[in-house]
Amino acid sequence: METSLSSVPLEQVEADALVVVAFDGEDGGPPPAPDLAGGWIQDLYKTGEFKGKVLETALLHRPVGLKAARLLAVGGGKRANFGAAELRRAAGVALRLLKPKGARTITLALGPGFTSPDHVAAAVEGAILGDYEPDRYKTENRDERKAVESFAVLVADAAPSLEQAARTGRIVAESQNFARDLVSEPANRLTPSVLAERASRMASEQGLECEVLDRERIEQLGMGALLGVAAGSEQPPAFIIVRYRPENPVTEGVHLGLIGKGITFDTGGISIKPSENMDKMKYDMAGGAAVLGAMRALAQLKPRIPVTALVPAVENMPGGRAQRPGDIVTTLSGKTVEVLNTDAEGRLILADAITYAKRLGCTHLVDAATLTGAIVVALGYVYVGAFSNDDTLLEKVLAAARATGEKTWHMPLDDDYKEILKSAFADMPNIGNRWGGAITASMFLKEFVDTTPWVHLDIAGTAWLEESKPFLAKGPSGVPVRTFIRLALDWSS
Ligand code: BES
Ligand code: ZN
Ligand code: ZN
Repeated sequence: METSLSSVPLEQVEADALVVVAFDGEDGGPPPAPDLAGGWIQDLYKTGEFKGKVLETALLHRPVGLKAARLLAVGGGKRANFGAAELRRAAGVALRLLKPKGARTITLALGPGFTSPDHVAAAVEGAILGDYEPDRYKTENRDERKAVESFAVLVADAAPSLEQAARTGRIVAESQNFARDLVSEPANRLTPSVLAERASRMASEQGLECEVLDRERIEQLGMGALLGVAAGSEQPPAFIIVRYRPENPVTEGVHLGLIGKGITFDTGGISIKPSENMDKMKYDMAGGAAVLGAMRALAQLKPRIPVTALVPAVENMPGGRAQRPGDIVTTLSGKTVEVLNTDAEGRLILADAITYAKRLGCTHLVDAATLTGAIVVALGYVYVGAFSNDDTLLEKVLAAARATGEKTWHMPLDDDYKEILKSAFADMPNIGNRWGGAITASMFLKEFVDTTPWVHLDIAGTAWLEESKPFLAKGPSGVPVRTFIRLALDWSS
């Protein structure tokens, strides 16, 4: 799908569908042209058929006075609450409603007050994200599938800053879809080695450096926690490192490390998971995919700080060689861990990745991981949980999340939780008790982070949509690709 910016008069738009956002309570009609199509939308308000509520839609064919074949009104909710995040969703709704109806060309008109660069970028993102379907392996009716060819954003004045924003939106959304593609791959097709190949191909296409540490190298280095998790699988682990170096770095001394959990499948290992829903554990590498998606975008958007991505890619399987509950492993940091539950494997591979990131010179760390079921209990499927040892970095991450519409909530980390992480036989166990599981997992990670500024994002509840939304397909969401990208870009401005 092509995306573009346009500024022809509304009546002159030649498209299969023209889309406008109409607001709750504004029965005078939608901006920028309230009496569009002979006052059709006002009539809908009058009869109460359309109120302008969030994600509400109304579609008209052959609208009077317009060249467009259809006019679609998408509800924006209250105007005062309508920002870039809501616009992103509205664009996604329009795309997902119009595509199955056979519309090939779509133009979304932005009213006055909604034409900042952030709005334009969000509209383009919403359309590209809404267009995505994780249906690569469906062979039926492949050729008959409907496709949108072009999506244009209509503004009064297509200034260069808005052209730039449209380009940014496109790069961001395509990179998020790149991550979603990786996450939707099943574990038989995306092993740690395949993930490493995909990362390395992406890196060479984008002009990034990529290095993959194989099992031998991982052994030499002494990543005992990672190797313990990898022990049960026939698939060798791969430790993926992708580097972005700016041409003219803005702040001396800042080096951002992005770390993503890359469990290509999580059976639980010997502490095996129930079979119900185990199929979903292919998304246990969503953090790793998000990190790689962000790097893809950063290569093109060129922030002025160095960014290094680290993705420990491992399959967690039971088997004759698998690690057992009670095993004690020595991590790369030298600290020992008693593995009381082999299903708490994410924190084990992340512990070694965090230590390695610090060795590579990263001064600030942000990780994303489908780490705990407990974060789903705490925040449901709506908010990402953010844990941190540094308020300044935390605020940067939360600001980036807010700006990009990836809802993120600050969760506590407190030394009072530390007493739960006591082992009789090693420096620490890999699990706590029943309570506050997302917090004890974070406390475990913090032991390896030490004092380096760090934010941990638990995305177990948000990386996968159980059901499709009007603006997004069921399956991988691509969270938190946009937060990562924004964080790096904001740092350099
Ligand atoms: N990958 C899971 C966490 C998860 C759960 C992700 C649900 C997505 C949806 C993680 O490796 C895990 O199994 N965690 C355990 C930890 C427990 C054994 C302390 C959990 O959350 O149950
Ligand atoms: Zn697990
Ligand atoms: Zn896991």
